[in-house]
Amino acid sequence: MALVSLNSTEGAANLLSSSTDGLSVLPKYFVSDEERKSLHHISPLTDLTSIDLQELDGPSRAQAVEKIRKACKNDGFFEVVNHGVSDKLMDEMIKVAEEFFQMPVEDRAHLYSDDYHKRTRVSTSFNVSKEDKLHWRDYLRHPCYPMEDHIESWPNKPSSYKKIAAEYVTAIRALVLKLLEAISESLGLEKDYISNALGKQNQTMQINYYPPCPNPDLTLGLGAHTDPNCLTVVQHDDVSGLQIMKDNKWFDVPSLHGAFFVNIADQLQVISNGEYKSLVHRVVTNSTKRRISIPTFYGPSLDTIIKPASSMVALHPHGALYTAFTYGQFIDHFYSQRLVTTTLKRFEISCSEIEYKVV
Ligand code: OGA
Ligand code: NI
Repeated sequence: MALVSLNSTEGAANLLSSSTDGLSVLPKYFVSDEERKSLHHISPLTDLTSIDLQELDGPSRAQAVEKIRKACKNDGFFEVVNHGVSDKLMDEMIKVAEEFFQMPVEDRAHLYSDDYHKRTRVSTSFNVSKEDKLHWRDYLRHPCYPMEDHIESWPNKPSSYKKIAAEYVTAIRALVLKLLEAISESLGLEKDYISNALGKQNQTMQINYYPPCPNPDLTLGLGAHTDPNCLTVVQHDDVSGLQIMKDNKWFDVPSLHGAFFVNIADQLQVISNGEYKSLVHRVVTNSTKRRISIPTFYGPSLDTIIKPASSMVALHPHGALYTAFTYGQFIDHFYSQRLVTTTLKRFEISCSEIEYKVV
């Protein structure tokens, strides 16, 4: 049974970060038996590709693009270093994010909403009006681009929030645009292909707050999912917890110390016509330390029509693997259910259709 939609005062009371006594893992946070078993079979990630972003501006650009191609094709993720976002700014962003979740709940309760149409909001779990099991996480998210259209809606408290976040999202956008050019090139597309394919574009920043969890083997910070946007760039603090799936096995991503974790998301899978796959990932909890991560979800504006690039379709033996859709349609489907790995399935051209076309 799904929980009902709550107003901001009732909803804010459900935030994990509003609890003043010790938290306990109630049954509504329990994962399935199968997920619980999977928590015990984790391998360390030993081969994380590191991309030096400065190389994209120098004589070894072609090699760096080739490295990106391999990481996107084989893994769906990589880390970036020399990315142009200063250590100072990264530290300040984590610090103000922590302050946001540690201030008295009254100071963030007015931003609570479980309606995904509200683009600046605080919430808990993933999508409480559609979930019968909850994830051990609170979050703040807000749109960032164009900044002047959205900054008004960002939190006023802590008082330094807007200034630090403004500097941060500007630096992240520059990093993302550089990566999108290199990724376009790695697919044999014009440099500006992907950023153009995203229409007016959408940059959403999220602060995930995972409190310490008394029973990390009963629940998940976030269950297995793929991100609905195009490319995700994540800053982690020094507490690990992110896990990625490769060859049907879960791997622990180590904490990255000054680097960003980048992963392929659903729209890039569509635009590349399946050449690059959206990364399946999840977050585990731990009993001693609160964890903060700051993903930036970069993707299309809601009115943008997304479809596979025609040159990618031409290269594929089955032609187009996905129908054309607006990103708004995709997001409505994404939020019509609990957190899953299969949102893209709805937009696949099924094999029978392909065979029909061939006949
Ligand atoms: C997400 C996500 C990863 C993390 O918010 O979609 O996957 O490390 N976060 O918190
Ligand atoms: Ni994610």
